[in-house]
Amino acid sequence: MRRRIVAGNWKMNNNLSDSTTLLEDLKTQDFKDENVEVFVAPSYTNLALAGTLLKDSAIKVAAQNMHQNDGGAFTGEVSATMLKSVDVSTVILGHSERRAYFNETDSLLAEKVNAALKNDMQVIFCFGEELEDRKSEAHFKVVEDQLKNGLFHIEKEVWKNIILAYEPVWAIGTGETASPEQAQEMHAYVRNTIKATYGEEIAADVSILYGGSVKPANASEIFAKPDVDGGLIGGAALDATSFAAIANAF
Ligand code: PGA
Repeated sequence: MRRRIVAGNWKMNNNLSDSTTLLEDLKTQDFKDENVEVFVAPSYTNLALAGTLLKDSAIKVAAQNMHQNDGGAFTGEVSATMLKSVDVSTVILGHSERRAYFNETDSLLAEKVNAALKNDMQVIFCFGEELEDRKSEAHFKVVEDQLKNGLFHIEKEVWKNIILAYEPVWAIGTGETASPEQAQEMHAYVRNTIKATYGEEIAADVSILYGGSVKPANASEIFAKPDVDGGLIGGAALDATSFAAIANAF
């Protein structure tokens, strides 16, 4: 069944004490609709803290990344099994910042997706075009390639563990949001692409989030679009009131 989801990507923000404050603030917020699933994705160092502080709350914890191997000589990396050991069973993969600054390619992401699914984790799989792609009208092709190369090798049965996030790179952290129509157009395209390969049921069931400068002021018109099932929120997720307002914008 298609779910409505709002996920806060804290990126490389918030030390231990900032994270404690934000998590405590989040617990005092009124998330009005219990059918809207809410996630926060702190940095690795604050995941266990988030799990502890949110234990009695409906807010779930996700990681921002993980390595494709379960363990071994990979200095500086964190595996799916480590995430699961601190009760984190959702991971964001393929964020455009990972793709751009850490050279994460479609084929690496395919490996990471496999590692996550093998460990029974849920994946928030991100994709999106750059400004030049949109200007040259290559955006549909770019997105289709990212999906096909990074994700379309998975079996039908595991699509229930996939959440998609369309994040046009030109809208991330720039204050420039895709218009609700642009978001809807791409989300519908993605759903059709999934339908062509995996069939109607999987296409209809998968949740597709929009990400890129979502704020309390623009969330409701974006979320109102039929193929937009929620948001992946960066900057506005660092403030509990703004984040809750976005989660309440359906
Ligand atoms: P933003 O980030 O909301 O700050 O644009 C979104 C994201 O990168 O997930």
